[in-house]
Order: sequence, then structure tokens, then C-alpha cells
Amino acid sequence: MEKTFLMIKPEAVENGQQGEIIDYLLKNRFNILRMKQFRFSEDSARRFYAMHEGKPFFEDLVSYITSGGVVGLEIQKESAVTTLRELVGATDPADARPGTVRYIYGTDLRKNAVHASDSPESAEKELDIVFTED
Ligand code: CMP
Repeated sequence: MEKTFLMIKPEAVENGQQGEIIDYLLKNRFNILRMKQFRFSEDSARRFYAMHEGKPFFEDLVSYITSGGVVGLEIQKESAVTTLRELVGATDPADARPGTVRYIYGTDLRKNAVHASDSPESAEKELDIVFTED
């Protein structure tokens, strides 16, 4: 069984959509191992998104992700990383397939409802930042 990380972003938390998104995961047979609602410090946010450092949207991304509460989930299933990314949909909700999380709950590229790890290595790093540091 593989583990991955999902984060519900500030606008979805503000809109009270955490429950529906968690229910979506459970209906798709993910096991929830750990779950935490918290707010990123600026330092942790920069480390969490370090792979995007230097890109034009990086500062905006850090300021957005630290703007409110988020929910982090460690979840498990066979082929969890790829299965979750398929269910989450394209980064830009405008490109996401109907039925995917970002199609249903996303607004735009910045407010795209959730983040899902892109590899088992990223999942390990992100889980570490969220569950052991912040
Ligand atoms: P996420 O999966 O959390 O990973 C990085 C985030 O940066 C991404 O979702 C988007 O919300 C945000 N972002 C903003 N602009 C861009 C862009 N041009 N390309 C990719 N991601 C972007």
C-alpha cells in the first residue's frame, strides 16, 4: 500500500468544504492515516513549495497558502499517488475533467481547492513538513 499527501487549501476550508472533500476520499477507498487542520508559517510554506522557488507565481503562492487554515491528510491506497492525482484533476480548474475535485471545488489556478503530491518522494517530504514541523 502506498501513502500520499493531500492538502485542502484556504478557500475550500473557508467555504466549509473540508467534509465533502474528505468524504470524496473515503468514497474512493482511501484510508486516512493522519489528518490535521493548521496554518502554515511562512518558513514552512516556503519549504513546502521549494520546488517552485524562483517561478513567477512563487511569492503569490506562499502568501496565499499562509492566508488561512488548511487541512493536511496522510492517506493510503494502492497506487495512491497516481490515483489521487487523477481524482484531483488538472492544476487549473478550467482544464479539470468534470467530476474531479478541482472541477467541483476549484475557482482558478491560485484557488484550486487542493494540493496532491506528485510522487512518493514528494509525499514523504511534504508529510514530514506538515506532520513533524508545523
Ligand atoms: P499545487 O498543486 O498546490 O502546486 C503549486 C501551486 O501553484 C499550484 O497548485 C497552483 O495553485 C499554483 N500556481 C499558480 N500559478 C501557477 C502556474 N502558472 N503553474 C502551476 N501552478 C501554479
